[in-house]
Formats: sequence, C-alpha cells, structure tokens
Amino acid sequence: MNKHTLIYQIYPSSVGDLRDIAAIIPRIAEKLHPDYIWLNPFFESPWNDGGYDVSNYYRIEPRFGKMQDFHHLVKVAEKYHIGILVDLVLNHTSDQHEWFKLSEQHDPEYKNYYVWLDRPLNWRSFFGGPAFDYSAQRDEYYLHLYDKTQPDLNFNNPRVVKEFENIVDFWLANGAAGFRVDSANVLAESDLKKGRIPGLPGFFHYYQKPKTVKILERLFAKRKCYTIAEPVGGEFFSKRKFHELTKRAFSASFNVGTLDIADSFFSKKDKVYPIRYKKWLKKLSEWAPEPKFSIAFESHDAPRAPSRFHTDPRILAMLQFLLPSYNPCIYQGQELGTENAELSNNIQDYPGIQSRQVYRRLRRKGKTKEEAMRIVKLTSRDNARQPINWGEYILQGAREESVLNFYSRLIELWRSDPVIADGKLKVNKITKGGIFDFERHLNSKIYKVHLDFTGKTKSTLIDDKGEIVIKV
Ligand code: GLC
Repeated sequence: MNKHTLIYQIYPSSVGDLRDIAAIIPRIAEKLHPDYIWLNPFFESPWNDGGYDVSNYYRIEPRFGKMQDFHHLVKVAEKYHIGILVDLVLNHTSDQHEWFKLSEQHDPEYKNYYVWLDRPLNWRSFFGGPAFDYSAQRDEYYLHLYDKTQPDLNFNNPRVVKEFENIVDFWLANGAAGFRVDSANVLAESDLKKGRIPGLPGFFHYYQKPKTVKILERLFAKRKCYTIAEPVGGEFFSKRKFHELTKRAFSASFNVGTLDIADSFFSKKDKVYPIRYKKWLKKLSEWAPEPKFSIAFESHDAPRAPSRFHTDPRILAMLQFLLPSYNPCIYQGQELGTENAELSNNIQDYPGIQSRQVYRRLRRKGKTKEEAMRIVKLTSRDNARQPINWGEYILQGAREESVLNFYSRLIELWRSDPVIADGKLKVNKITKGGIFDFERHLNSKIYKVHLDFTGKTKSTLIDDKGEIVIKV
C-alpha cells in the first residue's frame, strides 16, 4: 500500500491553550488516529490576521502557554504516534516584528530584510487593495501581498533565508515533527516591475519562481521532517508543476482548490456563489489520484462545509475518504458535523481582518448594512474559528449512528481496505445537480460508490460481493 497520511488541523484559539490541546488528543486519537496534528500559528503576534502576522517566531503567544507546554503537547502526541506540525509563515511577518521596525529605521543589518521601493508598483494584495504601502519613517514603500500589517520579507536576501533555517531548526529541536508552510509558492520576487494581469497585476513577478524553489529546498530537503505546502493562487496545473519542482522540499501539498472550486468560498468573499457540483466533482476526480495532493473540504479559511453544501456531513466524509485520498486533512469539528456559527450582526465583533475588509468593500460598492452583513456572515472564515464543543466527543461517541462514529469507521476502512486505499478510480457519472458515481478497482475487485448531493437517493458503498457496506 502507498503511504497514506491523515492530518488533523487545530486552530488553537478555538480550543484554549497548549495544555487544553494536549488534553483533547487522546479523544481525537481514539476515534480518528491521525498521523499528524497541524497547529495554526501560536507564536507571538498582534493577532491582526489570526496569528499569520508573527512578531516573534521563537516565542509562544503568552495566552497559549510556554515552551514547556509545547514540550508536554509533543510528548502526549507521541504517545499516540502523532507528530505535531508547526505552521511556518515564511512570506511575511507582522509589522510589529523587530526586523521590520529596524528595517524601517534603515538599520544597516536589517534594511534589506523587506521589499522596499521609492515608488509603489500597481500590484494588488490577495486581500484586496494596493500591495504597496508607504512608511513615513523610512520614506519608502514596502510590499505586502496580504494585509498592510504583513510586510513581505525579501527572500532575495540570503540573511533572511538563514533566519528561517534557524527557526526551522529551533522548532525541530523542540519536538516538532514538521511544518505546514504558509503561502509557499510566492516567497521570492523575480523582478519589481509594473504588472499587467487583471485582478492581481503583479502575479507573474512572484508566482512560483525558481528562486522560491531553491529556498524551500535549502530549508527542507535535508531536514528529516514531514512538510506540507500551501501553494496559493493559480489553477491546479501550475500547482502540480510547483509540486514537481519542490518534490525535494515537500512531502505533500495542501490543495486549496479542493475546498474552493465548488463556490470560490476561499478566494472570493464578496458574493455568495451557488455550488458548481459538476466542476467540483470533475476536478476532484482528476486531482484525487495524485499521491502528494491533499483533499480537504474545510479549514480555518472557509465557512463550514455542511452549511455551504447544505448536505449531510456523512456524504462529504464519503467523498473525502472513498476517492483515492493520500493526504486527507480534517479540520477540527468537521468530524462532529459542525455547522457555521451564529455570527454577530455587528462587524466590530469580527476578529478576522478579512471579514472587516469584505464588509468595507461591500459598503463602498453601495450595499446596505443588512445586505453586506448577510454576505459576510455566509462567507466569513470566522465561521470556522469558533470554540468547539469537545463534550460532543462523549455524546456522539455513545451513539452508533453519529457523524463522529461514521468518520471513525470510514477512516478505519480507508486505512485497512486495500481497494479503498489503493484502488484505481473509474468515474461513471457526474451530474450538474450533484450525483457522483464512481468505482475503485484493485486486481479483480471492484467497489461501487454512489453519492447523491440532491438527497433524493441514498448514498452508498457496495463492495465486490455486492454487499452494501455504507448507506446514508
Ligand atoms: C494563508 C492562511 C491564511 C492567511 C494567509 C496570510 O493563506 O491560510 O489564513 O490569512 O495565509 O498569511
């Protein structure tokens, strides 16, 4: 059998501190047996972008605990054969990071740590708005592919690369089993020129450059650890190319497309798009057989999948684990069938920078307060960043038919049944309304899967003897 890796993602502030996370590991391990737990950033940060704005990579944000709490977490995880993956934000830091403050002051050691220009280019940021902002202190403009509080590091400066070699070594020495690498394909700019592409004009000046590949190899190729990249932007084809290019650096690639292509919920948050089942299921069946790609329907960046798809969470689970699925990622609470949160009607209550930006854009475009809030509530990634009711593990654990026990059985099957683990995929039918029929073939065995997102027929898995193994 090929190597299959199950990743369980935890957004720390939804759980508590590192000790609280350690305390829930035995429950998760018992039901799902993940190989790795990926923790979203828990480093010191002003928390403008949910921790993706790091102000010190060596320090833990005080409310999550201290280094000894991280060691404790690693120890508990190891007991259950789980490795901890640390989220490494390479592309940018917080503007509160000491490096940026010194860079702004023209400090000779740090002045080239970020991307500075004497006049701004026409590039746009991924969050909307210009990608260059002015620093009065330095009297120059700096690049930020995300928010203006997240200045882009200058990866053409070897000292920056060296800083991150030290950071990687530090976390490995402290017990991390590997890394999830944020925005991994946009690190180094090839040139700083005016861009021409509509939407993201600067794109081809920083997208998947050979220099970025070299840096990633330098950081990860020789270090013994599991690494999963998050390549952003672009179609799957170029991501496949990125994976090919970086195969010495990464063990797997988190395919954002699997959670975005159905309705653009990851990338476009100004409108509620209908689910495009046919496109989504077709793309999924092309992507799934790639051994290094992940399948994920949820993350900290998207609303909850059962709410988006208006569907029984068990059908989504069947899709995730019955297609060829080499690196599936489960997002905390997904295994409990968690729906979107009841979010506030007041935009001031939203912790996420993105929701506030979307709201402002919608209002500028002339939407009423009510209409803007309706859209924000449906598309906000804050939906998935709420506290999880871990007591559900006990309640659902006791119920034979619960979503949790369904996940548990399905994962066991995915791990132990060779046809499901390694069988070839044959697609028979995909309809616009969301009916998906496919088979898995291994040697002379054929399993048949029927998934129905319309809810009109039962979704089933039938084995080679014609027995119904699953029926929802
Ligand atoms: C990644 C993260 C997202 C964050 C962004 C900027 O896409 O998943 O949450 O906002 O990077 O760091």
